[in-house]
Amino acid sequence: MATSARVALLPGDGIGPEVMAVAEAVLKTLIHGHDLPLAYDVLPWPATDWHRRHGAMMPEDALPRLREYQALLLGALGDPGPLSDPQRYCLPDGVSLAPLLTLRKGLDLWACERPARFYPGTVQYLADDRARDLDMLVIRENSEGEYVGQGGRLRADTREEIATQLEVFTYTATERLIRHAFERARQRAAERADSNSPRRFDGADGEPRESQVCLITKRNAQAFWGTLYDRVFEEVAADYPDVATHHELVDAAAMKFVQAPWRFDVVVASNLHGDILTDLAAVLAGGLGVAPSANLNPADPSQPALFEPTHGSAPDIAGQGIADPRATLFSLALMLDWLGEKEPIFYDHRPWQSPSGPSLPRREKSFRTIFSSAARHLHETLVSDLAAGHPACGTDQIGARIQGALGGGR
Ligand code: IPM
Ligand code: MN
Repeated sequence: MATSARVALLPGDGIGPEVMAVAEAVLKTLIHGHDLPLAYDVLPWPATDWHRRHGAMMPEDALPRLREYQALLLGALGDPGPLSDPQRYCLPDGVSLAPLLTLRKGLDLWACERPARFYPGTVQYLADDRARDLDMLVIRENSEGEYVGQGGRLRADTREEIATQLEVFTYTATERLIRHAFERARQRAAERADSNSPRRFDGADGEPRESQVCLITKRNAQAFWGTLYDRVFEEVAADYPDVATHHELVDAAAMKFVQAPWRFDVVVASNLHGDILTDLAAVLAGGLGVAPSANLNPADPSQPALFEPTHGSAPDIAGQGIADPRATLFSLALMLDWLGEKEPIFYDHRPWQSPSGPSLPRREKSFRTIFSSAARHLHETLVSDLAAGHPACGTDQIGARIQGALGGGR
């Protein structure tokens, strides 16, 4: 049984190393301030620079090495920038971004959670003030669907070229994803009840419910997988009579996210639909600068989870020290919270060595308490920092401000 959690920080490309430097400093502050039983390594891969030196984005044994950790925090992958340097070492997207899909699939992280909540102080893109009530969790299928990478190009690069791209949807992956969405809906309702801020959603029977799951498909044009998703949704929903259900076609969902985003709670979508809708949801919640994401295997806690900001490597601003590190910091908060949820694996009453030096006689708090209070502390600090409405400033200044606020007590 482990006495401390191990995590890996993967800075990656472009603005990744800049925002990760802030995340590392903040993590150190939290480790000391909360006596977190947590050790971390910073890995130089996956990264375009690793490819420049070794001819691959990551070592061949990357997956087994990453499995040694309980969680991974990734900065960004892609064009390292800066765009002003035409000589920079730059790879095709298919190469530089491949590790993302390799990690999601190789570590079997089948659920991608992207919370989108509006916090005062972020950019409000919608004129309707009700949009400030936006608080949704988009759960994206992360293992199959449109991203299976099957198909090919026949007579490539000729005028007779034929490209095929297969989509694969299985009962197993659909069922576990939809069930997870209902579990999360219940959990969110319970958290809202605890904090005295319930929400109401109309059930199909006209009775109000405290949470909702909205299923996204394109079943009017893609009836095969649409019917499978529909059937499974109905089947699973029967086990959750306390959760309201809803369905939207993906195009209508895009429209309704803009018209009335406050009507959504948990949204469950296929890999590609979820990808597109989460960029939209991120903008409604203040932009990619504050949008976190989590890739999880909710059924197998022994798989390391992968946390990452929803943004990319932003080569247009790389190296300028102006990237917003808060999406990575919100992702770090999700990571700490998730490590607390893994308590059954790590929980241990034996004495342990505090990262700040002295050996403590006996740890009185459980992992769950320690990690979730650090996660909450970071999350609340970020929310207050946004609410303070500081004028735009650099990556390091935002980092220093957050660290200062974190140092000021728990
Ligand atoms: C994301 C990204 C990736 C995806 C790309 C880079 C492959 O857009 O994480 O949302 O589509 O999953
Ligand atoms: Mn995306």
